[in-house]
Amino acid sequence: MKQTALITGASSGIGLELAKLFAQNKQNLILVARSTDKLTQLSNDLKSKYGIDVHVLSKDLSNYNAVKEIFDYTKQQNISITHLVNNAGFGDFGFFIESNWAKQEQMINLNITALTYLTHLFLPEMKNNKFGKVLNVASTAAFQPGPTMSVYYATKAYVLHFSEAIANELEGTGITVTALCPGATESGFQTLAAMEESKLVKGKKLPTSEEVAQYGYRAMNKGKKVVIHGVMNYIMANSIRFTPRALVLKVVRAMQDK
Ligand SMILES: NC(=O)c1ccc[n+]([C@@H]2O[C@H](COP(=O)([O-])OP(=O)(O)OC[C@H]3O[C@@H](n4cnc5c(N)ncnc54)[C@H](OP(=O)(O)O)[C@@H]3O)[C@@H](O)[C@H]2O)c1
Repeated sequence: MKQTALITGASSGIGLELAKLFAQNKQNLILVARSTDKLTQLSNDLKSKYGIDVHVLSKDLSNYNAVKEIFDYTKQQNISITHLVNNAGFGDFGFFIESNWAKQEQMINLNITALTYLTHLFLPEMKNNKFGKVLNVASTAAFQPGPTMSVYYATKAYVLHFSEAIANELEGTGITVTALCPGATESGFQTLAAMEESKLVKGKKLPTSEEVAQYGYRAMNKGKKVVIHGVMNYIMANSIRFTPRALVLKVVRAMQDK
């Protein structure tokens, strides 16, 4: 079967590196993000290097209609999506009470609604084909509440729980769902989230987007359900289960603060 991956947030960071991995493996691509120039540049590079088909869709996924437009485009072009990578997402650093509402709403629309709607639209076709791989980019933020990034952490908890639940429902259908949980990673994320001064990232040597993408790509191909990148991240995410919640909140707050 001809394989085509739809990747959201392919213009930078982890999504861009994932696009390169699919291309190296001769899988065709639909690249989605808002930055037309960056996507076109990437598309041209990948087409000439690997001889694959690449479609560029410039869409703002925090706009509900954009999701349906993407689905309709694949139908018009007669493209069957075999791999869905819900990667686009962003965070916002600061106290919730002082936050900009429009930004929080945009974050929920992108990190939760677009991811869920895209999955809902593309699963039936995967089920008919008895093959499909969904890779949802969650975060280590998914495992606990996150004071100073409250909405972001909560959106990622949603991504993790939603992914695990549907992975269970889809067992035996040929479709696998993988939740990739990176810790802090070198990308455009920190600047956009205004968290460069947070202790979580300041002065730290972070894993590259390329390393995280390779890890996620392998896990998706193996059909793993939840994968946490990095040994320390794995230990922390799992130790939380045995730690009183009040203490977890204190530790996360201390780690996140400036
Ligand atoms: N970096 C980290 O520390 C880290 C840690 C854990 C999890 N993650 C998760 O990893 C995923 C990828 O982030 P990244 O680190 O690679 O950050 P990034 O470099 O900022 O990339 C984010 C991508 O999302 C796209 N995007 C943002 N808003 C969008 C919108 N409204 N509509 C469509 N596309 C949009 C951006 O493209 P345009 O601006 O061109 O639209 C970009 O391609 C996110 O879900 C993030 O939450 C990141």
